[in-house]
Amino acid sequence: MISVRELTKVYRQPTRDVVAIDDINLDIDDGEIHGIIGRSGAGKSTLVRCLTLLDRPTKGQVIVGSQDLTAVSDTELRNARRRIGMVFQHANLLSSRTVAENVAMPLEIVNTKKAERRAKAIELIELVGLNGLEDTYPAQLSGGQRQRVGIARALAADPDVLLCDEPTSALDPNTTEGILNLIRSVAERLNLTVVIITHEMSVVKNLCDSVSLLDAGKILESGKLSEVAGDVNSQLSRSLLPLPTHDEVTADLVIEVVGKADAVNTPIGTTIAAENPVTVDIAAANIETLSGTRFAHYLLGINSDKPINLTGIEATLARHGFSVRVRAKQGVQA
Ligand SMILES: Nc1ncnc2c1ncn2[C@@H]1O[C@H](COP(=O)(O)OP(=O)(O)O)[C@@H](O)[C@H]1O
Ligand SMILES: [Mg+2]
Repeated sequence: MISVRELTKVYRQPTRDVVAIDDINLDIDDGEIHGIIGRSGAGKSTLVRCLTLLDRPTKGQVIVGSQDLTAVSDTELRNARRRIGMVFQHANLLSSRTVAENVAMPLEIVNTKKAERRAKAIELIELVGLNGLEDTYPAQLSGGQRQRVGIARALAADPDVLLCDEPTSALDPNTTEGILNLIRSVAERLNLTVVIITHEMSVVKNLCDSVSLLDAGKILESGKLSEVAGDVNSQLSRSLLPLPTHDEVTADLVIEVVGKADAVNTPIGTTIAAENPVTVDIAAANIETLSGTRFAHYLLGINSDKPINLTGIEATLARHGFSVRVRAKQGVQA
């Protein structure tokens, strides 16, 4: 549904060129909620602007539906943009207009009749949970309510795609949760494909089906949440399944393992010790459910009076569905 091909954006500057997006490839399926996470300056907002061609990519293609937006005429591009709703950190509502008038603005631009605009606005105001507030003004609303109006406005032209750039960054945790739940429920109801840009892993954890890690204009990792989280060697897994605070582990072999689904029920220590002559201490553990799949992340200290056969332990863990990352191995067979 959304395909990005070899997308590059260079900002030409008098002193130096800034490569904000560096040869990105990305595929997002219909109906998927895809998170793009990265720190400040990673290129997230540039990517969003390039997805709608508000910013012209220096190179590459953006394909939405079956249409290559980099190749169409200005008129076709304007029509294509209507299929893409945008939500930003701040809703930027017009203070002189009521909630209903703000929501209806995208319809005004395409000359929809007044009564029809009003009816659509009321329907969307209900959808975002602001029943009865249609004739109030933005100044009377809380930050979370204003963001709901922003979401309703983004839905006014019946888009297929919702692009959200840091939609909860200005909100407190409770309000954030409400907005994420709202995005999920409207995505399901209206069968939307959602791209959500964020610097907060909690947004990815609570909302997304799939995720990409953007750093210095490049996508370092990308995939379904259930796949990237299951790979203990991925950066995303480490932040999706963080270990709790723990003491430093000293052992002959120190490893981290991640297992998912049935592997979570494996008694990790006894399973390793049953097949290898070692003792196993669990130094830290995190068990949680992401996107409907259970995960277990363990930090293990492994000791033995003989040199440890790491290959044997890795084979045991692989057989039980765990990925393995070795942290220290001073007591391991050469
Ligand atoms: N209009 C612009 N002109 C020059 N440089 C820009 C412009 N917009 C963004 N940049 C640069 O591109 C990089 C990525 O910026 P941005 O996409 O805003 O990152 P993020 O949204 O992840 O914080 C940064 O180094 C930023 O300074
Ligand atoms: Mg940004």
